Amino acid sequence: MYTVPKLDDFSSAALDSAARELTSALQTETGSVSSESEWKALRDRWMARKNGILTQLNEQWLKAAPGTAKRDVGQRVNELKKLVEEKIDAALAKISSASSASRLEQERVDVTLPGNRRKLGVEHPLIRTKNEIVAVFKAMGYSVAEGPEVETDYYNFESLNFPPNHPARDTQDTLIVAGQQNKPLRERLLLRTHTSPVQIRVMEKQPPPVRVIVPGKVHRADTADATHSPIFHQVEGLAVDTNITFCDLKGTLDRWAKEMFGSSVRTRFYPSFFPFTEPSADMQISCFKCGGSGKLDGGRCAMCKASGWIEILGSGMVDPNVYGFVGYDPKKYSGFAFGMGVERIAILKYGVEDIQLFYQGDVRFLEQFA
Ligand code: PHE
Repeated sequence: MYTVPKLDDFSSAALDSAARELTSALQTETGSVSSESEWKALRDRWMARKNGILTQLNEQWLKAAPGTAKRDVGQRVNELKKLVEEKIDAALAKISSASSASRLEQERVDVTLPGNRRKLGVEHPLIRTKNEIVAVFKAMGYSVAEGPEVETDYYNFESLNFPPNHPARDTQDTLIVAGQQNKPLRERLLLRTHTSPVQIRVMEKQPPPVRVIVPGKVHRADTADATHSPIFHQVEGLAVDTNITFCDLKGTLDRWAKEMFGSSVRTRFYPSFFPFTEPSADMQISCFKCGGSGKLDGGRCAMCKASGWIEILGSGMVDPNVYGFVGYDPKKYSGFAFGMGVERIAILKYGVEDIQLFYQGDVRFLEQFA
């Protein structure tokens, strides 16, 4: 590596040769830097104020020169200084343009490459089931209505004819918003336990005739397990008009069941009880697995537990007391209502073993509905 020689001879020829030696060393060293850190080391070696090569030229050549040679030596040292600065600047320019060229190369995009194909999502099985249920009623002329999930006791219970001490009003069964003890009972907020309060909200807003279908989320104080979820979904229906009878209820729901589960499915109605319908009935469908025989592949049908029937929904004729809450004349109007659980229907239709699968977002489960 080049070091600055001491000069004894300050003749013009000796200075020429010393300058040539330095220049050629400069050429080699600046030509071999390829990174910014190497360049910094080079710059310091040549130009550092303390003991850089240029400083050494001052010390060892200029200061050591006899008076007669000072002018000549000074001029050469100045020329060399200028040359060193130029070459070192140029070396930096060269490496930075090389590195930006390589960056461009790395960033190059080949627009002709095939794209990343993303998997197409599908409707969640619950949404799909809900939409299927709703679509059948829409085709029969029903419109869709929705209501709030945070309800008052009035809409969820009182106006639906629940007696003040009905067990559903208990915190055992219903999730209640905290800190409302000083409000009157009917104003207290809770998470709706069914979609039936939307019946009241719809009737408050419009006179008969009413045909609405109400999908929505509901909440109950249940612990999650294979058959329970504290949040689930219902679809409610309400039809009110002059001359609506139990036959209309049966015909409408039978039509729906055939659309939903297949045209060979039969329905039957079983006495039941809800405070807001009178009479009330649970609807069962003949088992769509075993055709209602209760037997499958020479054994018991597991779908209907060998009974041949599957319970699907709750229904009934709107209790006249309910009309009193919304200003409908019970002598003039009658109607029916029904409500069903979306999870239950999806579980039956798709043979799902655990209700929790609907909420876990496991792609292996969801993919099966693609
Ligand atoms: N709201 C009832 C329930 O949750 C279902 C129902 C709706 C029954 C409408 C009759 C009429 O269980």
